[in-house]
Amino acid sequence: MAKPYRLNNWLIFAEESVLSTQKWLRKRVAELSDRTVILAGTQTSGRGRSGREWRSPVGGFYTSFLLKPSPPIVLAPCVSLLAAVILTRLLKQQGMQAFVKWPNDVIVEGKKVAGMIAEAGSFPESWFILGIGVNLTEAPFIPKREFLPAGSWAEFGDAPAADELLQNFLIEFDSSWSNREDNPLDGITEELDSILWQKGEQVTLSGGLDTFQGFVSRINRDGSLVLLTDSGERQFVSGELLTVPEERG
Ligand code: BTN
Repeated sequence: MAKPYRLNNWLIFAEESVLSTQKWLRKRVAELSDRTVILAGTQTSGRGRSGREWRSPVGGFYTSFLLKPSPPIVLAPCVSLLAAVILTRLLKQQGMQAFVKWPNDVIVEGKKVAGMIAEAGSFPESWFILGIGVNLTEAPFIPKREFLPAGSWAEFGDAPAADELLQNFLIEFDSSWSNREDNPLDGITEELDSILWQKGEQVTLSGGLDTFQGFVSRINRDGSLVLLTDSGERQFVSGELLTVPEERG
């Protein structure tokens, strides 16, 4: 294991290659302390949400953060959303218009550039791990069920080095959310609303066996999504958004 270094009161482990930064932290969760980060050059078994694989070639940004004890678990979706908003800010600094696709993907020009995964547990004490994957120079094909093509930061602007991105991310993260008991969405709901993917557009929400159609309305303060459906507003806490294909005339 490489020697860690400190960055703004975070402890950073940098490894060339790991199975998955999520698994790396989970395996060591008992001995590591709050504000530990693992940054990997590549992952051989990167994990996405819903059991998907996250292809992780060299040249991407693969990191996971340990918060211990965990923030209140009701805030978990809000922490992932904050991370997605921060990435859109960093992309915007380079003139790119980036959107947050609920629950927490980052989209540029219709392509998925980044994704987040959050996991929490309670043994030996409560912990929360947030994993972030950003396609910096390569846009690996995303297998199964992802209907959006993958894009990379480099397609749209100058991709930062992974350690530079990590540093900028951590600065924004700490300045946007200093008290773990606070809701990280407080103060950024308008910003989130302005970058909400497909806002006002019709989408299909696929949630396990059910699918729902509606128009994207907003994200609530608890991180749930509001769709305007035929039967009025409906709120969703999980699911996957898909665009509705235009009808052929
Ligand atoms: C998704 O969009 O499905 C979430 C992707 C999350 C990928 C990141 S890469 C760093 C961390 N380690 C993993 O194995 N997964 C997350």
